[in-house]
Amino acid sequence: MIATRRRFFGLAAGLLLAGAGWSSRAESPEGASATRLMDDLMWNRGPIGGPFALIDHTGILRTDEDFRGKLLLIYFGYSYCPDVCPTDLQQIGLAVDGLGARADAVQPLFITLDPERDTAAHLADYVPSFHPRLIGLTGSAEQIRRIALAYKVYYAKYPPDSSDYVIDHSAFIYLVDKTGKYIGFFPPGTTADRMIEIITLNLSDTKR
Ligand code: NI
Repeated sequence: MIATRRRFFGLAAGLLLAGAGWSSRAESPEGASATRLMDDLMWNRGPIGGPFALIDHTGILRTDEDFRGKLLLIYFGYSYCPDVCPTDLQQIGLAVDGLGARADAVQPLFITLDPERDTAAHLADYVPSFHPRLIGLTGSAEQIRRIALAYKVYYAKYPPDSSDYVIDHSAFIYLVDKTGKYIGFFPPGTTADRMIEIITLNLSDTKR
Protein backbone atom coordinates (compact mmCIF):
# COMPACT_ATOMS: atom_id res chain seq x y z
CA MET A 1 0.00 0.00 0.00
CA ILE A 2 2.68 2.43 1.01
CA ALA A 3 4.82 1.41 -1.94
CA THR A 4 1.88 1.94 -4.31
CA ARG A 5 1.16 5.30 -2.84
CA ARG A 6 4.79 6.28 -3.14
CA ARG A 7 4.82 5.30 -6.79
CA PHE A 8 1.68 7.28 -7.41
CA PHE A 9 3.17 10.23 -5.65
CA GLY A 10 6.34 10.04 -7.71
CA LEU A 11 4.33 10.11 -10.91
CA ALA A 12 2.00 12.87 -9.77
CA ALA A 13 4.88 14.96 -8.48
CA GLY A 14 6.74 14.50 -11.73
CA LEU A 15 3.74 15.71 -13.71
CA LEU A 16 3.15 18.65 -11.42
CA LEU A 17 6.82 19.57 -11.48
CA ALA A 18 6.76 19.56 -15.26
CA GLY A 19 3.54 21.57 -15.26
CA ALA A 20 4.95 24.13 -12.89
CA GLY A 21 8.04 24.57 -15.00
CA TRP A 22 10.28 23.00 -12.41
CA SER A 23 13.46 21.27 -13.14
CA SER A 24 15.05 18.75 -10.86
CA ARG A 25 17.77 21.24 -10.03
CA ALA A 26 19.29 21.62 -6.66
CA GLU A 27 17.82 22.14 -3.30
CA SER A 28 16.70 25.53 -2.10
CA PRO A 29 19.17 27.43 0.07
CA GLU A 30 17.20 26.39 3.12
CA GLY A 31 17.84 22.75 2.33
CA ALA A 32 14.16 22.01 1.81
CA SER A 33 13.98 20.07 -1.41
CA ALA A 34 11.26 20.56 -3.98
CA THR A 35 10.21 16.97 -3.45
CA ARG A 36 9.94 17.28 0.31
CA LEU A 37 7.91 20.48 0.13
CA MET A 38 5.55 19.11 -2.49
CA ASP A 39 5.17 15.87 -0.57
CA ASP A 40 4.13 17.80 2.54
CA LEU A 41 1.73 19.96 0.55
CA MET A 42 0.09 17.15 -1.40
CA TRP A 43 -0.57 14.99 1.62
CA ASN A 44 -1.50 17.94 3.78
CA ARG A 45 1.29 17.10 6.19
CA GLY A 46 1.86 19.60 8.93
CA PRO A 47 0.42 23.10 9.13
CA ILE A 48 0.18 25.04 5.88
CA GLY A 49 0.08 28.84 5.80
CA GLY A 50 0.67 31.30 8.58
CA PRO A 51 1.05 34.93 9.56
CA PHE A 52 2.93 37.54 7.57
CA ALA A 53 3.76 41.25 7.71
CA LEU A 54 4.80 42.51 4.28
CA ILE A 55 4.83 45.76 2.30
CA ASP A 56 2.24 46.10 -0.44
CA HIS A 57 2.82 47.64 -3.86
CA THR A 58 1.65 51.03 -2.59
CA GLY A 59 4.20 50.95 0.23
CA ILE A 60 1.76 50.10 3.05
CA LEU A 61 2.45 47.43 5.67
CA ARG A 62 -0.07 44.58 5.40
CA THR A 63 -0.52 41.62 7.68
CA ASP A 64 -2.58 38.47 7.24
CA GLU A 65 -4.98 39.84 9.86
CA ASP A 66 -5.87 42.75 7.58
CA PHE A 67 -7.59 40.25 5.30
CA ARG A 68 -9.83 38.44 7.78
CA GLY A 69 -13.35 38.25 6.40
CA LYS A 70 -12.06 37.70 2.85
CA LEU A 71 -11.40 34.50 0.99
CA LEU A 72 -7.74 34.79 -0.05
CA LEU A 73 -6.20 33.66 -3.30
CA ILE A 74 -2.46 33.64 -2.66
CA TYR A 75 0.08 33.22 -5.44
CA PHE A 76 3.86 33.16 -5.07
CA GLY A 77 6.03 34.18 -8.00
CA TYR A 78 8.16 37.01 -9.35
CA SER A 79 7.62 39.77 -11.85
CA TYR A 80 10.48 38.79 -14.15
CA CYS A 81 9.01 35.31 -14.56
CA PRO A 82 8.87 34.78 -18.31
CA ASP A 83 5.95 32.43 -18.55
CA VAL A 84 4.19 30.67 -15.69
CA CYS A 85 3.50 33.61 -13.37
CA PRO A 86 1.90 35.87 -16.01
CA THR A 87 -0.31 33.04 -17.19
CA ASP A 88 -1.52 32.15 -13.70
CA LEU A 89 -1.96 35.79 -12.67
CA GLN A 90 -4.01 36.41 -15.78
CA GLN A 91 -6.30 33.50 -14.84
CA ILE A 92 -6.62 34.88 -11.29
CA GLY A 93 -7.59 38.27 -12.74
CA LEU A 94 -10.17 36.66 -15.01
CA ALA A 95 -11.57 34.65 -12.09
CA VAL A 96 -11.99 37.79 -9.97
CA ASP A 97 -13.75 39.52 -12.87
CA GLY A 98 -15.92 36.47 -13.50
CA LEU A 99 -17.10 36.40 -9.88
CA GLY A 100 -18.87 39.71 -10.38
CA ALA A 101 -20.26 41.14 -7.14
CA ARG A 102 -19.11 38.03 -5.23
CA ALA A 103 -15.52 39.15 -5.83
CA ASP A 104 -15.95 41.66 -3.00
CA ALA A 105 -15.55 38.72 -0.63
CA VAL A 106 -12.32 37.61 -2.34
CA GLN A 107 -8.84 39.13 -2.15
CA PRO A 108 -6.10 38.04 -4.56
CA LEU A 109 -2.51 38.40 -3.27
CA PHE A 110 0.77 38.11 -5.18
CA ILE A 111 3.75 37.45 -2.91
CA THR A 112 7.09 37.91 -4.64
CA LEU A 113 9.83 35.32 -4.34
CA ASP A 114 12.29 37.89 -5.70
CA PRO A 115 12.33 40.71 -3.13
CA GLU A 116 15.73 41.83 -4.42
CA ARG A 117 14.24 43.04 -7.70
CA ASP A 118 10.53 43.19 -6.82
CA THR A 119 10.45 46.33 -4.72
CA ALA A 120 7.09 47.88 -3.85
CA ALA A 121 7.62 50.44 -6.63
CA HIS A 122 8.41 47.71 -9.12
CA LEU A 123 5.34 45.70 -8.10
CA ALA A 124 3.25 48.86 -8.52
CA ASP A 125 4.09 48.70 -12.23
CA TYR A 126 3.39 44.98 -12.43
CA VAL A 127 0.33 43.85 -10.49
CA PRO A 128 -2.30 46.30 -11.82
CA SER A 129 -1.85 44.89 -15.32
CA PHE A 130 -3.47 41.65 -14.12
CA HIS A 131 -6.27 43.07 -11.99
CA PRO A 132 -6.86 46.38 -10.23
CA ARG A 133 -7.65 44.51 -7.01
CA LEU A 134 -4.55 42.32 -7.07
CA ILE A 135 -2.24 43.27 -4.18
CA GLY A 136 1.51 42.73 -4.61
CA LEU A 137 3.52 41.99 -1.45
CA THR A 138 7.25 42.17 -0.82
CA GLY A 139 9.60 42.22 2.15
CA SER A 140 13.06 41.25 3.28
CA ALA A 141 14.60 38.03 2.01
CA GLU A 142 14.03 36.53 5.46
CA GLN A 143 10.36 37.57 5.62
CA ILE A 144 9.75 36.09 2.18
CA ARG A 145 11.61 32.91 3.08
CA ARG A 146 9.46 32.47 6.17
CA ILE A 147 6.07 32.86 4.46
CA ALA A 148 7.15 30.80 1.45
CA LEU A 149 8.22 27.94 3.69
CA ALA A 150 4.96 28.22 5.63
CA TYR A 151 3.11 27.54 2.37
CA LYS A 152 5.59 24.82 1.33
CA VAL A 153 6.68 26.90 -1.63
CA TYR A 154 9.86 25.74 -3.29
CA TYR A 155 12.00 28.44 -4.90
CA ALA A 156 15.64 28.77 -5.87
CA LYS A 157 17.68 31.28 -7.85
CA TYR A 158 19.41 29.99 -10.93
CA PRO A 159 22.22 30.53 -11.47
CA PRO A 160 22.57 31.32 -7.76
CA ASP A 161 25.49 33.74 -8.01
CA SER A 162 24.51 35.83 -11.02
CA SER A 163 22.68 39.16 -11.12
CA ASP A 164 20.89 37.90 -14.21
CA TYR A 165 18.91 35.02 -12.78
CA VAL A 166 15.64 33.21 -13.02
CA ILE A 167 13.82 31.68 -10.07
CA ASP A 168 12.63 28.12 -10.18
CA HIS A 169 9.48 28.02 -8.13
CA SER A 170 6.37 26.00 -7.45
CA ALA A 171 3.22 27.55 -8.89
CA PHE A 172 0.20 26.69 -6.80
CA ILE A 173 -2.62 29.08 -6.07
CA TYR A 174 -3.56 28.83 -2.40
CA LEU A 175 -7.05 29.29 -1.05
CA VAL A 176 -7.36 30.61 2.51
CA ASP A 177 -10.68 31.04 4.26
CA LYS A 178 -12.17 34.11 5.93
CA THR A 179 -10.68 33.18 9.29
CA GLY A 180 -7.17 32.83 7.87
CA LYS A 181 -7.27 29.04 7.72
CA TYR A 182 -5.72 27.24 4.76
CA ILE A 183 -8.30 25.43 2.62
CA GLY A 184 -6.26 23.96 -0.22
CA PHE A 185 -4.51 24.72 -3.47
CA PHE A 186 -5.29 24.94 -7.16
CA PRO A 187 -2.77 23.06 -9.28
CA PRO A 188 -0.75 24.93 -11.92
CA GLY A 189 -2.75 25.59 -15.05
CA THR A 190 -6.15 25.80 -13.31
CA THR A 191 -8.47 27.84 -15.50
CA ALA A 192 -10.35 30.91 -14.33
CA ASP A 193 -13.67 29.12 -14.84
CA ARG A 194 -12.65 26.26 -12.53
CA MET A 195 -11.41 28.71 -9.92
CA ILE A 196 -14.74 30.55 -10.06
CA GLU A 197 -16.65 27.30 -9.48
CA ILE A 198 -14.53 26.31 -6.51
CA ILE A 199 -14.45 29.79 -5.00
CA THR A 200 -18.24 29.93 -5.30
CA LEU A 201 -18.54 26.62 -3.43
CA ASN A 202 -16.34 27.95 -0.65
CA LEU A 203 -18.15 31.27 -0.43
CA SER A 204 -21.49 29.55 -0.03
CA ASP A 205 -20.23 27.06 2.55
CA THR A 206 -21.60 28.36 5.84
CA LYS A 207 -18.87 26.57 7.76
CA ARG A 208 -16.43 29.02 6.22
NI1 NI B 1 6.86 32.27 -12.18
